[in-house]
Amino acid sequence: VRLRSRSGKLQGKKVVITAGGTREAIDPVRYLTNRSSGKMGYALARAAAEHGAHVTLITTINRETIFGVHQIMVKSAQEMYDVSMSEFEDADYFIAAAAVADFKPTAELVHKIKKQADSTLTLNLVQNPDILKAIGQSKKAGQRVVGFAAETQHIIQSGQEKLVSKSADMLVANDVSRQDAGFSSDNNAVTILTRDERAQTLAKASKIAIAREIIERMITLN
Ligand code: CTP
Ligand code: CA
Repeated sequence: VRLRSRSGKLQGKKVVITAGGTREAIDPVRYLTNRSSGKMGYALARAAAEHGAHVTLITTINRETIFGVHQIMVKSAQEMYDVSMSEFEDADYFIAAAAVADFKPTAELVHKIKKQADSTLTLNLVQNPDILKAIGQSKKAGQRVVGFAAETQHIIQSGQEKLVSKSADMLVANDVSRQDAGFSSDNNAVTILTRDERAQTLAKASKIAIAREIIERMITLN
């Protein structure tokens, strides 16, 4: 067991992390979501707390309680957006590890949808706000922003594009096509991209080991 250090590199720093897949309500009993387990976000929260940070974890999934980590439960992307924007105001770092649903139903229905006479149903969807992009754009001097990218192809190129388009300082690109890592797995294989350096691909490892490397790298951002 690693205890929270009193002289950690993130002592006195506030780190805000999003985790898990958002849930977008369709009607009172149904929602749209994705396969995110929240494990990577929790591993990052633990790794940041090990360096003495005050961590705020904005999460859709309640996995465990971690010493030094303040958890805020949310459901939808809009809720995650609202909490993220207010928690980021006095934060030093923001890490967007959540799998935010890109789309939500245009309207949340008050009543449960009934089976249809013609046996088809069309859902109308609208894009959710981009939390990471809004955070990147609202960034003030000294604040640092880390994003993730879930890709199935052209990982480094797409990652570089997201790094720039979201005004992030670091981007962790994740190959979600791999069967042996990512999503609900305990392992992950990622490539770290920053503005000034070459891409750094980390060997496949446990999510906590990857999280510790990501946090170490984040601390060195200037
Ligand atoms: N993200 C976010 N808000 C959204 C969508 C994504 O904060 N509405 C964040 C994710 O948490 C991640 C990063 O943006 O850190 C990239 O997510 P990803 O799904 O890879 O990229 P998108 O910008 O959503 O583009 P696309 O899915 O079309 O590739
Ligand atoms: Ca997306």
